[in-house]
Amino acid sequence: MFYRPGLDDHGLPRNPFNALITPRPIGWVASVDENGVSNLAPFSFFNGAAYEPPAVSVAFTGAKLGELAGERKDTLANIKASGEFTVNLVSTALMDAMNATAAHLPIGESEFKAAGVTEVAGQVVKAPIVAESPAAFECKLIEAVVLPNDGTGTNTTVFGQVVGVHISDDILKEGFVDPTIYQPLARMGYLDYTTVKDVFTLKRPE
Ligand SMILES: Cc1cc2nc3c(=O)[nH]c(=O)nc-3n(C[C@H](O)[C@H](O)[C@H](O)COP(=O)(O)O)c2cc1C
Repeated sequence: MFYRPGLDDHGLPRNPFNALITPRPIGWVASVDENGVSNLAPFSFFNGAAYEPPAVSVAFTGAKLGELAGERKDTLANIKASGEFTVNLVSTALMDAMNATAAHLPIGESEFKAAGVTEVAGQVVKAPIVAESPAAFECKLIEAVVLPNDGTGTNTTVFGQVVGVHISDDILKEGFVDPTIYQPLARMGYLDYTTVKDVFTLKRPE
């Protein structure tokens, strides 16, 4: 099959786009608003963007839903205002806590508390990190790029310079990060997830 997004009806029960970009790591992004209230939410349009010096990207895809429809997501607003955020990695053990932070809470209510995870101050940035996460990146905003959208500016990808890296000693085996220890949770299409349990090595050609 072939379809042109925006021009053709794909005819499938649900938009297949996300299901074609899998598995996606989940960036659990913490940020702080202008009153110092911290926010935590998951984003699977997250990835590394540069290796040296390290950078990450997080894509905000659309606006809030429900009664707040049309508004930018709090995380995006906080990052644009403060210029800082952290990205915390999600182990399979943190699945339910991560999912709980995708809900909209009333302003001033801590998503850390609602999810039952521990908020720890960042070392370089004001945004906190999740103590239970196997690893976390402290980031400073490089640029927020607005992508084509419905005119509300809600499709925006932020690029962050990684200025601090936290790694739990528990996930290191002889100095190497071993994902089989914490089993990173990853997004598939629709409401599906997967988790990394097996790793194999493939040497690059000379
Ligand atoms: C696993 C998972 C992955 C998500 N990935 C994204 C994403 O990549 N981009 C996005 O805009 N929203 C994503 N969402 C939805 C946001 O987490 C949700 O809109 C959240 O309420 C935003 O919170 P905020 O308004 O506090 O920033 C995802 C939700 C879940 C559960």
